Amino acid sequence: MGKYCFPNDWGAATAAYQIEGGFAEDGKGESIWDSFSHAPGKIVDGNTGDIACDHYHRYKDDVKIMKELGLNTYRFSFAWTRILPDGTGFANQKGIDFYKRLVDELLCAGIVPNATIYHWDLPQKLQDKGGWVNRDIVGYFNDYANLLFREFGDAIPVWATINEPYAVFAGYTFPYFAPGIIDVKMGKQVIHHLLLAHGTTIKSFKELNIRKAQIGIVTDLWKSHPARDCDEDRDLARDMDERNFYIFLNPLYKGQYSDYIARVMEEENSLPDIKEGDMSIISAPFDYHGINCYSRHLVSHDSELSDVDRRMAADPGKFTSMKWEIYPAALYDAVKLIHDEFSASIPIYITENGGAFEDTLTDDGKAHDERRIELIRGYLKELHRAIGDGFNVKGYYLWSLMDNFEWASGFSKRFGMLYTDYGTQKRIWKDSAYFYKQLISDNGFID
Ligand code: FCB
Repeated sequence: MGKYCFPNDWGAATAAYQIEGGFAEDGKGESIWDSFSHAPGKIVDGNTGDIACDHYHRYKDDVKIMKELGLNTYRFSFAWTRILPDGTGFANQKGIDFYKRLVDELLCAGIVPNATIYHWDLPQKLQDKGGWVNRDIVGYFNDYANLLFREFGDAIPVWATINEPYAVFAGYTFPYFAPGIIDVKMGKQVIHHLLLAHGTTIKSFKELNIRKAQIGIVTDLWKSHPARDCDEDRDLARDMDERNFYIFLNPLYKGQYSDYIARVMEEENSLPDIKEGDMSIISAPFDYHGINCYSRHLVSHDSELSDVDRRMAADPGKFTSMKWEIYPAALYDAVKLIHDEFSASIPIYITENGGAFEDTLTDDGKAHDERRIELIRGYLKELHRAIGDGFNVKGYYLWSLMDNFEWASGFSKRFGMLYTDYGTQKRIWKDSAYFYKQLISDNGFID
């Protein structure tokens, strides 16, 4: 038995489309997630984020709960279409006011706001102009971000440009994410424009010289592991890592795509249009790195070994209801990778970690989610190990504050420490919420 003590801040994370609802309220424009979820057959059970957790109307009560939990910090995202309904041009004061009220509420509760500028909900009007494939997006994004910096720069000390650029790319390469376009070449152009929008915005932010505020980017980082100790599987794992995260990390930190990825893009005829000067914009230094990490990938040319359904059937206790393997060392590996391969000094935040389980309410009106508690403890032990090894981790955010709209899975997957009753919009504390509250108050736990 030992005590695990932590020096970092404790938070919870959400995203606008997943919790807000109010999808057409107070002048909000349509986003690609509005139109995607309204199209038949895209989301499990035909769910949409039209109402979601109704946070747009319930933010005050939600912040009250955050305060009761003792959160030091709360990570949320702005809905671009509330601020700029068409993505560019006319600014919607009512949308801006909503976030002013939210941020005020957080500050009054002593909770540090951590704001993500873009968590996937692109204005549909901009998608109609080509979305992330059209290079003009870089200017639109930068204008939108600058508006936020002007309005909120003094109040919000931690900013992220983009949450998981990989998922944005996925929307142009795979069918399950908005806008649901499948085009390998477009996908790679999207990656380049995401990086360019990020870098351009970092530069704007630095020029504003906002006192004490810091800005970074959030990437997902799940390493791939070869199932067998052989070159074939090792090569496959490396290939996956290149495509999943080195394709972002190398340009961000080193100002270039790897030779490997350049070759892949050439072979699949998907080389993006890169203009002179782009790579130096993309590699503009930023203040911290946000890592979203839930698991790892196990890969093999022998598909029996890597098949998730088979592995899950053999050992169901090792998987969450997303079919994601519970593999706590993934967190340690992710932090170490950023530290060792890219920057030994940049502060790291774990901006998302957690798990979805089949939570139900028991007769006494409670939700006993011991598997989530066990998962959190497991990953936090690995975080503790990383901090003990001297890696500079400043904060941990649990995904998520409450059950919410889990993208293509709709409401079928529950990630919250609060149980959302979608009929009544009641938030019910799961056991993990009590656990997290205690953990925050003790700054650690005994195991
Ligand atoms: C991450 C997303 C977040 C949520 C979790 C479960 O990839 O950033 O919005 O869906 O996964």
